[in-house]
Amino acid sequence: MTHVLVTGGAGFIGTHVVVALHRAGHQVSVVDVGHPGAHRAPPPDTVAGAPLRRVDLRDRYAVADALTGVDVVVHQAAMVGLGVDLNDLPEYVGCNDLGTAVLLAEMARVGVHRLVLASSMVVYGEGAYTCPAHGPVRPGPRAGADLAAGRFESACAACGAALEPGLVDEEAPLDPRSVYAATKVAQEHLTAAWCRQTGGTVVALRYHNVYGPGMPRDTPYSGVAAIFRSALAAGRAPRVFEDGRQRRDFVHVDDVAAANVAAVTATGGRTGWRAYNIASGRPASIGEMAAELARVTGGPTPVVTGEFRLGDVRHVIASPVRARTELGFRAAVHLADGVREFADAPLRG
Ligand code: UD1
Repeated sequence: MTHVLVTGGAGFIGTHVVVALHRAGHQVSVVDVGHPGAHRAPPPDTVAGAPLRRVDLRDRYAVADALTGVDVVVHQAAMVGLGVDLNDLPEYVGCNDLGTAVLLAEMARVGVHRLVLASSMVVYGEGAYTCPAHGPVRPGPRAGADLAAGRFESACAACGAALEPGLVDEEAPLDPRSVYAATKVAQEHLTAAWCRQTGGTVVALRYHNVYGPGMPRDTPYSGVAAIFRSALAAGRAPRVFEDGRQRRDFVHVDDVAAANVAAVTATGGRTGWRAYNIASGRPASIGEMAAELARVTGGPTPVVTGEFRLGDVRHVIASPVRARTELGFRAAVHLADGVREFADAPLRG
């Protein structure tokens, strides 16, 4: 039996990961700081029967204690989302990067050499695009003036032609566009350096847009699915930004948990650092997501507002091929089924 320590194990994704690891027959220990950005109420005392230890990863003594007897660390703990403003910056870096650094140092000291890292598609910035004349191109951030004029699609910098969005794969260059994204890229680089120095193993899972039961309610740190769901629950129409045609890959949290179980197994048979998209492989537009949620809840029809957020990227849709071939992971939950269940599922306070 493998002893797995899950950090952030009381969070939205972490809770599902703990349950799935238990079901797969692993011994699971859980730590979580109960960060107020993710938990409005104090977290429970146990997660799937495992006692929850309140540990701040920046506390090396608490981390060392939690690592006793552990074979693999599944590192989910992080502050996510766009946040409120730059006052959040030190806390993002503190939790996500200093916390990871302390965890890695203690793992090396105690002799734990296997790590699964919760990374994110935000490391890519924009997704993959092709210009009909110039082939693959990487558009920069969109100009506020273009967005205000309703020009949401990126154009080729060389010829101005409309770009065709494609599936982003793990070889795409990293191009973080927010503080959160920058901290996720730093986590990837820190774990890669740790891996080289220790001869250890890291499987980095780049989650796409995760949704499902237990998602936090509408907060500055929530993804769009929870925001739409919260609006509908309050009898308000979801507000779809831009023209609603921006695309993402929505992946159900049960699939993300299954990917973590596969990743834990994979850390046993190899050394080195490797990243994987964790995605459904079936992209959907934000407008479609809103419409589907409104339909199944019988709520008001979404409004396409034309509003925009300067930091948003246009399309990020993912190639699921590497995770399928190397981890044996294939998302099982179809969006229509997942959304139907999500419509009635509890959100977290
Ligand atoms: C989201 C998460 C990010 C996570 C990533 C991958 C947030 C804020 N973002 O990024 O942390 O790493 O998935 O899992 O949690 N939108 C609306 N109406 C709204 C809010 C948003 O139409 O009320 C639109 C946005 O303009 C954007 C899309 O929905 O086009 C997705 O937004 P969101 O889920 O916030 O961010 P992602 O960039 O997809």
